[in-house]
Amino acid sequence: MAYQDPRVVTILRRSREHGLPGYTIRPEEGRFLQFLVFVLQARRILEIGTLGGYSTGWMALALPAEGHIWTLERDAYHVQVARQNLEEVGLGERVTVLHGEAPKDLDRVAQHAPFDLVFVDAEKAIYPACYEWAVEHLRPGGVFAAHNAYWAEEVTGVLSRIRQDARTFLFVYPSSEGLLAAVKKAGDERLSPNPHS
Ligand SMILES: C[S@@+](CC[C@H](N)C(=O)[O-])C[C@H]1O[C@@H](n2cnc3c(N)ncnc32)[C@H](O)[C@@H]1O
Repeated sequence: MAYQDPRVVTILRRSREHGLPGYTIRPEEGRFLQFLVFVLQARRILEIGTLGGYSTGWMALALPAEGHIWTLERDAYHVQVARQNLEEVGLGERVTVLHGEAPKDLDRVAQHAPFDLVFVDAEKAIYPACYEWAVEHLRPGGVFAAHNAYWAEEVTGVLSRIRQDARTFLFVYPSSEGLLAAVKKAGDERLSPNPHS
């Protein structure tokens, strides 16, 4: 299991104490998200599906001081717990937890685009719409990442769609649930549609 910063451990414990469900990312996936944040030198991140702020916390810990995460959550109670958790561990200033539902409320965060990273971990039916929105609102070289990639493929065929899309390059991190990462091409790459994915 990947090393976990005590602040994300606290977020997880508090989420449990508040009765939130345990379907978060795994520590190794948190580590992978942090790796993306570092490699991208990310400053602007959009997350869809906050729950108690555990994955948010992983990404926030890798952000530089001027970086920011906007995270969209449709359940008002989850929003309240996440805000409280992130505040308690000192990450409140780096994160804005928004109450809303994707994809219909995504235009509320469009003003903060272009994003370096868009991460979705929510109901699987919305993944294709979130992907399309993300490709429009990421900077060239930015990444669309999504949790439960294998399950989402079963429900929506999202991996197959992305593999056919020449605008991005797909990689699937083979964690138990699968975490997909699709890089928005700058437009001048020689690679044609996802040849090795
Ligand atoms: C699997 S949990 C997210 C876990 C979180 N990423 C973590 O690892 O700590 C999914 C969350 O997404 C929220 N959600 C589901 N569908 C959504 C949608 N369409 N828009 C916004 N939030 C959504 C749920 O209420 C739930 O809190």
